[in-house]
Amino acid sequence: MTLLKPIFERILIIWALVTSWLKYHINHEGNIVLLKRLLEELDSQTADMEQKLGAEPPHPLKRQENEVYEWLENAERIKTEVQTIFQISERKFLSRDHFGKLIDEKTIEVKELLQEGRLNTKISAEKCFKYLIIGGGVAAGYAAREFVNQGLKPGELAIISKEAVAPYERPALSKAYLFPEGAARLPGFNVCVGSGGERLLPEWYVEKGIELILGTEIIKADLDSKIVTSAGGMKFSYDILIIATGSRAIKLTEFGVKGVEAKNIFYLREIRDANKLVEEIRAKKKGKVVVIGGGYIGLEVGAAMRINQFDVTMVYPEQWCMPRLFTREIAAFYEAYYENKGIKFIKGTVAVAFVVGSNGEVKAVILKNCRVLEADIVVVGVGAKPVIELFEGQVEQAKGGIKTDEFFQTNYPDVYAVGDVATFPMKLYNDMRRVEHVDHARKSAEQAVKVIKASEEYISTPEYDYLPYFYSRVFNLSWTFYGDNVGDPVLFGDNNPASAKPKFGTAWIKNGKIVGVFLEGGTTEENEAIAQIARIQPPADKYLDRLRKGGYFFACKLELC
Ligand code: FDA
Ligand code: NAD
Repeated sequence: MTLLKPIFERILIIWALVTSWLKYHINHEGNIVLLKRLLEELDSQTADMEQKLGAEPPHPLKRQENEVYEWLENAERIKTEVQTIFQISERKFLSRDHFGKLIDEKTIEVKELLQEGRLNTKISAEKCFKYLIIGGGVAAGYAAREFVNQGLKPGELAIISKEAVAPYERPALSKAYLFPEGAARLPGFNVCVGSGGERLLPEWYVEKGIELILGTEIIKADLDSKIVTSAGGMKFSYDILIIATGSRAIKLTEFGVKGVEAKNIFYLREIRDANKLVEEIRAKKKGKVVVIGGGYIGLEVGAAMRINQFDVTMVYPEQWCMPRLFTREIAAFYEAYYENKGIKFIKGTVAVAFVVGSNGEVKAVILKNCRVLEADIVVVGVGAKPVIELFEGQVEQAKGGIKTDEFFQTNYPDVYAVGDVATFPMKLYNDMRRVEHVDHARKSAEQAVKVIKASEEYISTPEYDYLPYFYSRVFNLSWTFYGDNVGDPVLFGDNNPASAKPKFGTAWIKNGKIVGVFLEGGTTEENEAIAQIARIQPPADKYLDRLRKGGYFFACKLELC
């Protein structure tokens, strides 16, 4: 026993050293993450303040202009200082302890600056709202419009958004936003222009008495006390909460890919991501792009990069692109069309590492099949995840999202969830589903607001009865899909990628009924007709032959139209 004592003591000492080392490193990493998050909030606050300064007088700022300029200068100084600290630490000129101290000091300074920044704007430190929306994306914008349509008093509604700009139509980011000429820019695509409605400019929110709190990330939501807190420590209380936090891009770090810290590797979710990509498109003219992922982002950004005359290679693990919707035949058409445009495909493999140059930029992508692809820019689109961590353990979840009923009410009283985050009952298929598409974001937001307003009058609202609708536009192509892609697919029409105007489709048949229809190149009327087919689900035996022979015209000739 006496012999074992020193061994035990040594084990205890080693254990204490290991745990304190781990604690130190975990805290250290955590402090860096916090500082980076605060800096993002500072960036957004800076952009917001600059926008307000640039507004027609009287600009909506509380303080004297010179104080605001002084604040902006300080913000710029701190950002540069932090950048320098990171650069010096990368070159290993700083001890870990010294680096940690500097990080802590800068964190305090940034927090103070954020606090001061809020005093510069109209936003007060604590605010109460009747209705509060967390998230300032598509669903938030459409919810705001619906509140106004249903009757809203000034000061009742606030939208808190991490982004520095008013709600906009996110689909533009992977399409016209990236064009070399005539690119879409804000305010051209603020909601609700995407569904043919009025553009809601920042002034619209001011006019309607809606508080648009931009550049502010909520980091804590306490549903019991009905208070949410921002990264900068601001608190907001509410009577009714709408969660509209959308999705975030899945990162390659989650797959253990090496070298992901290299510059020039881009994800695309928010306008800030798109701006960085646009900057790089300009800097790396006609260079080499590797697109990782063969889903929506991959296909749309791959096309946009080719339009910008980049040499584009797409890499994905599946045997054909967009397997979650496309059949092999549909995919074959798009892949051949892309190849005719000069885009290359490498299928059945994934990226495992990036080669990083001495300037920190990505130089090449190493694939699992051992191929190495040179790259000036890498764009990653490997899926999205709903942003629901704030509410974990507080609201019920289902299928990766927040579980709601057909009125988008969660199991928590006065809390609604809409858009990408909501897993709701899809009445048509008697199933719980989550949908990551813009049409549902708009409609679910409108439904939730109708329900909220109707319940104040003790009126009932019809259940949400959603028909899935997805679409995409690339090059001169444009497809739509309605319904469910389950059962046996039947291809129809001209799917020759070399045709001057290819026009083809696919119908999915389940239990003898047509349950979903895909159409490339359809007219507005034809698209409306396929929507009707997917909704009504006519018997396939009656229509299938006509579908095969008549192709897409079938849709319009149906007695249903
Ligand atoms: P959305 O993502 O629009 O908004 C969420 C907002 O919440 C963001 O502003 C975010 O910053 C904010 N937020 C998150 N956490 C927060 C926090 N803690 N505090 C404060 N704010 C927070 N669909 C389609 O049908 N057709 C298409 O062509 C396209 N194209 C397309 C292109 C690109 C590039 C993307 C990324 C996505 C699409 N989509 C699409 C999908 C579609 O845009 C998406 O389904 C909707 O934007 C979802 O709307 P939400 O409002 O739910 O989230
Ligand atoms: P996605 O789910 O459409 O596609 C993900 C793709 O990633 C898969 O098809 C697969 O090819 C690939 N992938 C998965 N793991 C991989 C790995 N380890 N390496 C390489 N590839 C891998 O997701 P996305 O394209 O990233 O889109 C993100 C979100 O944006 C989704 O919610 C989507 O609905 C939305 N979006 C929609 C549209 C549209 O509706 N037109 C357009 C753009 C974006």
